[in-house]
Amino acid sequence: MARKIIMDVDTGSDDACAIMLAAKSEELEILGICAVNGNRTLEETTENTLKIVELLGMEDKIPVIRGASRPMVKDLLPSRAHNAQTPSVHYDENGNEICYHPASFDLPAPHTKPLEKNFITWYADTILGSGEPVTIVAVGPLTDLGLLFRCEPKVLENIEEIVIMGGGHNQVNTTFASEFNIFMDPEAAEIVLQSGAKITMVPLDATHAASTYLSEAKLFRDLHTPVGDMIAELIEIRTNAYNRLQPLWDKDLCPLHDALAVAYLLDPRVLKHVLYTRVDVDISGGFADGATIVDTRVYRNMEPNCYYALDADRDLFNRIFYERIAGHKSV
Ligand code: RIB
Ligand code: CA
Repeated sequence: MARKIIMDVDTGSDDACAIMLAAKSEELEILGICAVNGNRTLEETTENTLKIVELLGMEDKIPVIRGASRPMVKDLLPSRAHNAQTPSVHYDENGNEICYHPASFDLPAPHTKPLEKNFITWYADTILGSGEPVTIVAVGPLTDLGLLFRCEPKVLENIEEIVIMGGGHNQVNTTFASEFNIFMDPEAAEIVLQSGAKITMVPLDATHAASTYLSEAKLFRDLHTPVGDMIAELIEIRTNAYNRLQPLWDKDLCPLHDALAVAYLLDPRVLKHVLYTRVDVDISGGFADGATIVDTRVYRNMEPNCYYALDADRDLFNRIFYERIAGHKSV
């Protein structure tokens, strides 16, 4: 029996890789995908999600729904609002925009529409109506889940696990203290962390370690499939952006953050040095707004609430990703 999952995404280039990996994995059954404001506006993340589901030819199987268009409370204070809806745009020497996430994927305009339903109702009906417990794979800001758990906490009775791509202990990316998904809605993240659900966090500490080389894009392009071509293009886009804007531990390298969260469901060995500990988020709105606070002490004074991965197996992740997209499994 395939594991039932709901994906919450801000599609985005690595969100798209996560969706394609999940859709190509027979171990997983995607009950639906909820798009949220994050990398781009809700309109853009929703349309990009529809495009990817149609590229997969799964528009009749996987419903797409619109989630929240703004953080729960963060943008009420101008001093806190981080307007990631118009990410700081950078240009190369030829005047070409350098970005991690295209506002609109270079794919045909979608012919399908998102469900005409309030996402809170959709989440509640889908989770409570599922015979088996549901796993949520959240790879954008956690606004949708924060609102859901405040409005309909009963859903927690039928949630098997929440896998979050977000956070960073030794690695950050959006400010000197925070990772993007958590920074975009710290209060929502803290609601999720205090929900009592089983939570596995796949943070930058792990996703940076699992990064994909530009040379590996050729493997996907050599598949000569629309999905393989799209993944190759997304790796190329991301590598260009990382080389120029956020160089990591090697050149021509990019993390496919969100896809690692899905790969964990396929083979937990992709995550290494996993702590079961207390994790909270700074919601004070100061210099460390949205920082992930991971208790790495042996003797803690608060109950653990999260499995937190400090490392990952790069070769295993990239092998799983490629093989699922290529349609053969050796692991
Ligand atoms: O910090 C990385 C995360 O922020 C990823 O989910 C990426 O898609 C962006 O949403
Ligand atoms: Ca994302």
